[in-house]
Amino acid sequence: MMRNNVLQQQQFKDSALKMISLCSLIIVGVVETKSTIEPCNSSQACPSLLSYLLPWDSMLSEIATRFNVNVSDIMAANSAFPITASCGNEIVRAGSTVKIPATCECVDGIRRSVSAVYKVKASDTLESISEGYGGLVSADQIGSFNKAVPLVDGDVVVIPLPCSCMKNQNNGESAVYMSYVVQKGETLGSVAAYFGTTISDLETVNGLGQPTVLPGDILSIPIPACSSATLNWYNESLIVPNGSYALTATNCIKCTCAPQGLKMQCFPSGMDVHCYNLRCKGSNLAIGDEHLEYSNAGCNVTQCVYRGHRGGKILSSLINSSYLQCPDNKNSSAATCWQPSAPNLADPFVLSPSPSPSLFPLPVSEAALMTHAYDYDYDYERRLHLFSFICRMLHLFFPMLLLCFLI
Ligand SMILES: *[C@@H]1O[C@H](CO)[C@@H](O)[C@H](O)[C@H]1NC(C)=O
Ligand SMILES: *[C@@H]1O[C@H](CO)[C@@H](O)[C@H](O)[C@H]1NC(C)=O
Ligand SMILES: *[C@@H]1O[C@H](CO)[C@@H](O)[C@H](O)[C@H]1NC(C)=O
Ligand SMILES: *[C@@H]1O[C@H](CO)[C@@H](O)[C@H](O)[C@H]1NC(C)=O
Ligand SMILES: *[C@@H]1O[C@H](CO)[C@@H](O)[C@H](O)[C@H]1NC(C)=O
Ligand SMILES: *[C@@H]1O[C@H](CO)[C@@H](O)[C@H](O)[C@H]1NC(C)=O
Ligand SMILES: *[C@@H]1O[C@H](CO)[C@@H](O)[C@H](O)[C@H]1NC(C)=O
Repeated sequence: MMRNNVLQQQQFKDSALKMISLCSLIIVGVVETKSTIEPCNSSQACPSLLSYLLPWDSMLSEIATRFNVNVSDIMAANSAFPITASCGNEIVRAGSTVKIPATCECVDGIRRSVSAVYKVKASDTLESISEGYGGLVSADQIGSFNKAVPLVDGDVVVIPLPCSCMKNQNNGESAVYMSYVVQKGETLGSVAAYFGTTISDLETVNGLGQPTVLPGDILSIPIPACSSATLNWYNESLIVPNGSYALTATNCIKCTCAPQGLKMQCFPSGMDVHCYNLRCKGSNLAIGDEHLEYSNAGCNVTQCVYRGHRGGKILSSLINSSYLQCPDNKNSSAATCWQPSAPNLADPFVLSPSPSPSLFPLPVSEAALMTHAYDYDYDYERRLHLFSFICRMLHLFFPMLLLCFLI
């Protein structure tokens, strides 16, 4: 199978873009230009990410508007939680890297994200608009995509952003591709190391002839992902990149991608939305809960798992499994807790609310609970005893002391 090329230079010339749009399939054969793009022939879209280096301080809601996505989706892509109504007012500092979720489509035979639209203001130039997108798109690209020069106040221009799908696979594993703008001083090796991949993988994915990149080049980075494909969901498929979570079922359900084993885990989002059917039928377990039962044979686990949604209805089912030993609580804690956003090459995303373990209490075995209660009572009683002991001593001593004085 031919691997597709996604490397693209920022200084894309107008004519080059037009040529590629016209005969992308021919151009793609010429790999040396470093400006090739994943060809496609279907209208099928896929989820992708943009690594956005923020050019100036912006409120989260402004960033969302710039890319035409919801604030909650940006927060989910960056694993920031909890989502509250005031999150949009949060200021993200210039120089931060923010992961932006983008729907990657097939436009004129090449992969492009075209959902971002920009409303032109009187003082705008193509350059100033391009600058707002942190190197992900050049002025020429915006100009030729929209055939809209000169710009008129109030015009709406589509911002064509680089993306790739590659069937959401990399080396046979689920992956989401993230477009990354190479910065000054970075090498293919440093980028590969940073994202936990290899130089040769990046070369293959991006169709590089040589393992060199220049500042401004845009690389496609495969991010390992959790997929619902093997989970037997009804009417829904979801792919969640490592280091992110996704909100689904009208924001009622939050699915995370646990780094260990890349397993998708879904539970109620806790967001302020009306949600029904969050419990498994015939049980008191909510989606994401599990119940452990110790038996002679080992441990029986009943889990209530999310199974997709349909027409406002959330589907779930109980899964029983037995183990020789009960699963280690420490492990499940690492898997379901809030994960800080994946590190970025530039300054980290400044929105980093503290983990909120209380929101989704982990299943705690009854034995653990009892031990805990016992420890607490024991300590309390001991302190009580000590206190009353001191009181009694004082009671005894005081009269004696008084007696001494009198004598
Ligand atoms: C569409 O693209 C795939 C590879 O991306 C190729 O195998 C297939 O033959 C193409 N179909 C058409 C109709 O061009
Ligand atoms: C943003 O959220 C609203 C409702 O919460 C939803 O209708 C809309 O489709 C979302 N937009 C995107 C781009 O996800
Ligand atoms: C998905 O939903 C449609 C309409 O609601 C239904 O006809 C179809 O059978 C569903 N598919 C699955 C796999 O549940
Ligand atoms: C645990 O599961 C096994 C087989 O799945 C079953 O035979 C046993 O009765 C179960 N024990 C309890 C306590 O549910
Ligand atoms: C799972 O186990 C529970 C009790 O532990 C039982 O009530 C339920 O019927 C079992 N479900 C299935 C599908 O085996
Ligand atoms: C817990 O995780 C460790 C390594 O992270 C693994 O070796 C161990 O088998 C896990 N235990 C269970 C019960 O899954
Ligand atoms: C997932 O991301 C974490 C950091 O967020 C990283 O430590 C881990 O190695 C990643 N897992 C995979 C399979 O890439």
